[in-house]
Amino acid sequence: MGNLVDAFIALRQELAVPAAMVAEIALRFQEEMIAGLRGQLSTLKMLPSFLAKPNGEEKGDFLAIDFGGTNVRIILVELSGQGRFSIKAARSFPLKDRQKGYDYTANTASGNELFDFIAANIEELADRHGRYSLGHTFSFPCRQTGLNQAILIIWTKEIKTQGVEGQDVGTLLQAALDQRQMTHVVAKAIINDTVGTLLAAAYSDRWADIGSICGTGHNTCYLEPCSPLTGKPMIINMESGNFDKIAVTEYDRLLDQASEKPGKQRLEKMSSGRYVGELVSIISSQYGKKGLLGTGFQQPAGLVPLGGEQVAALVADNTPGLTQVQEVIEGQWGASGSTLAERQAIREIAELVINRSARLVAATFLGVIRHIDPELQQRHTIAIDGSLYEKMPGYASRLKAALAENLAAKASLITVVLTKDGSGVGAAIAAAIADQ
Ligand code: GLC
Repeated sequence: MGNLVDAFIALRQELAVPAAMVAEIALRFQEEMIAGLRGQLSTLKMLPSFLAKPNGEEKGDFLAIDFGGTNVRIILVELSGQGRFSIKAARSFPLKDRQKGYDYTANTASGNELFDFIAANIEELADRHGRYSLGHTFSFPCRQTGLNQAILIIWTKEIKTQGVEGQDVGTLLQAALDQRQMTHVVAKAIINDTVGTLLAAAYSDRWADIGSICGTGHNTCYLEPCSPLTGKPMIINMESGNFDKIAVTEYDRLLDQASEKPGKQRLEKMSSGRYVGELVSIISSQYGKKGLLGTGFQQPAGLVPLGGEQVAALVADNTPGLTQVQEVIEGQWGASGSTLAERQAIREIAELVINRSARLVAATFLGVIRHIDPELQQRHTIAIDGSLYEKMPGYASRLKAALAENLAAKASLITVVLTKDGSGVGAAIAAAIADQ
């Protein structure tokens, strides 16, 4: 066990993000923002959304697609103005279902098949007597040339469907609607989920100017006061999950090498729900291989990645014998007969990974705030959606603590809010803006 104690001293250091590092990352992030806006080489794509903030008067019934991962949700939303809305109907469906024998996210499926499947589901929800404007939240990096044109630059979050990268998803969706003669549905806007989250928050809060997702993926958008395209305010989708001016560990390298797109989305791979459980497994597996943990953790092929909920169970375990940790590691890894010290080690690994994630994300927010309000003279609301932020024990408080540490006396100017359903409601707001 002596070795394990030493190894942990090193691990705590490797995964720590002390205040000085937060400040340093914020600065580098701001530099990358500026380079990206100027069209210079940058890990931040700084993609224009063709949208500014809503005025709060957007009203009516709208259809919204929320497509951001392997589950898609279609909703019918009524917007009533000043932040008020109600969801009148909703339909969620997986893009892959082993039992039913389909997987539209695999490289064996085509973009046409994928969007036809989505159109078929819209048809189920939107009856032909109505006429609907539709907003589409498509949560992947897209080069937009207008509010309803969005060319997918690259799939993220391990999706592999053929024939979508380099294509306009607006055209793909329209072709699928046309094929089904769904003239009662008119696609009006395509937005990123971060943009949807910001729109939904700004619908009722005039100070909202940063929108972020801390869920399966991670990304942030903000209201750029002076868009290089128009000289006017415009929401910019930074695709900040691709930011990489951060020191990585051997575990991050292992994860990256085994991923679908090595070298890409480095911050996302260090921070989002899709990857934190994988990091916990990789670290534990390396500790097993080095003999620091018992045979239960030593598997030649490595330990299967944990899901976000399992990581949440690890960090939430306050039982004296760490029985929740035991359940997770036995259930997922078959690591039976673990000692209390091993279970403590696993829980601490999870905590260190989560803490690093929250503090890295906070550092990027500080970079955005420095950019939009260098002297910090105004209030700002950061709207966040996503399971990691909402459900991971301690995540929100660690993130806010990192902000407060850095902002000191001015910390009260920054409000962080959970904005649920932002991708759906935001898409409806975008469609309403397009209709105006
Ligand atoms: C990935 C996508 C990005 C999205 C984020 C959260 O990072 O590239 O567009 O906003 O996931 O869903």
